[in-house]
Amino acid sequence: MRVLLAGGAGYVGTHTAIALIEAGHEAVLLDDLSNTSAEVTARIESITGKAAPLASGSAASVADVERVFDEFGPFDSIMHFAAKKAVGESVEKPLDYYRNNLGSTFALLEVGIARGIRSFIFSSTGTVYSDPADLPFGEGATRNLVELSNPYSKSKLMNEVVLSDVQRVNPELNITLLRYFNPVGAHESGLVGEDPKGIPNNLMPYVARVAVGGLSEISVYGTDYDTPDGTGQRDYIHVVDLADGHVAALEKAEPGLKAYNLGTGNPVSVLELISSFEKAVGRELPKKMAPRRAGDLAATYCDPAVAERELGWKAARTIDDMTRDVWNWQSRNPRGYDG
Ligand code: WQD
Repeated sequence: MRVLLAGGAGYVGTHTAIALIEAGHEAVLLDDLSNTSAEVTARIESITGKAAPLASGSAASVADVERVFDEFGPFDSIMHFAAKKAVGESVEKPLDYYRNNLGSTFALLEVGIARGIRSFIFSSTGTVYSDPADLPFGEGATRNLVELSNPYSKSKLMNEVVLSDVQRVNPELNITLLRYFNPVGAHESGLVGEDPKGIPNNLMPYVARVAVGGLSEISVYGTDYDTPDGTGQRDYIHVVDLADGHVAALEKAEPGLKAYNLGTGNPVSVLELISSFEKAVGRELPKKMAPRRAGDLAATYCDPAVAERELGWKAARTIDDMTRDVWNWQSRNPRGYDG
């Protein structure tokens, strides 16, 4: 099938394009390159032997999306990765987040439905869950919008509401909501990986940057949580497992709306992740214990049983696979795609 990946030159989009091509599908990337590099297309071709054309433009612009359909269509499916996703930044700039993260969905739906797509696969998030009493989070554990702590997560839950109402009046359309937990890792080739601009907000890329000497030491945000070692627990999922989940969702798509948790179901703590990374690097990394970060939950992890049962998909890679592959990517590309 022919798939338009909105935000497809980003971290998850790039890995998904590779998985799609390797499964015999065609991938076209639409990206404004605000948080990635056009270099990814050459890397995708090196890995797969096939091109994934890149159309430069905004997924939030109807004119840009129309142009991509005119030039590269028709498409069987749209996969929508194009979103701002820094939780802290979203608190500072709520309007930017709502305008971009909702406006992109509106434009893609308007053009995609008019042009006859059969499925719309949406990059959602495990941060739509909020109540620790619901752990491990199942797909039915979403709570009210106002209980979410930041505009990023709210924008994602709002998207899910919009998509549900739109699907109801387009009954032949499949809409799949893929709720990612914490995507980390990199393709085994070391040719593509996570390359955040500036200083990383997230733990794994921050640890990787310290390991290559780009940053001085890791801060462990909080050691007094009610967890086995006192540090925050997350459900880290290898980005290649996540990409495979998108291929499974595309190939299983049938009319209707479905939500799936894409996670491992295994909580891993900050100290456990750092220890795994130190094993991959072969040396200790500089770290300091620091106060909790505002807005953080002690633990978040999912029950992935519905995706396993209905998509025939299960995350296969361990935290040691994730840190090994991140170190392979980062050590080969100390400055990311900038060489
Ligand atoms: C993980 C743990 C921190 C940095 C992210 C994205 C969000 C969503 C889910 C897609 C926490 C601790 C972190 C550091 C630390 N992605 N930490 N030192 O907050 O779960 O959310 O994944 O939807 O968009 O932001 O991930 O990696 O920031 O934090 O100790 O320098 O690491 O306290 O316990 P988070 P994270």
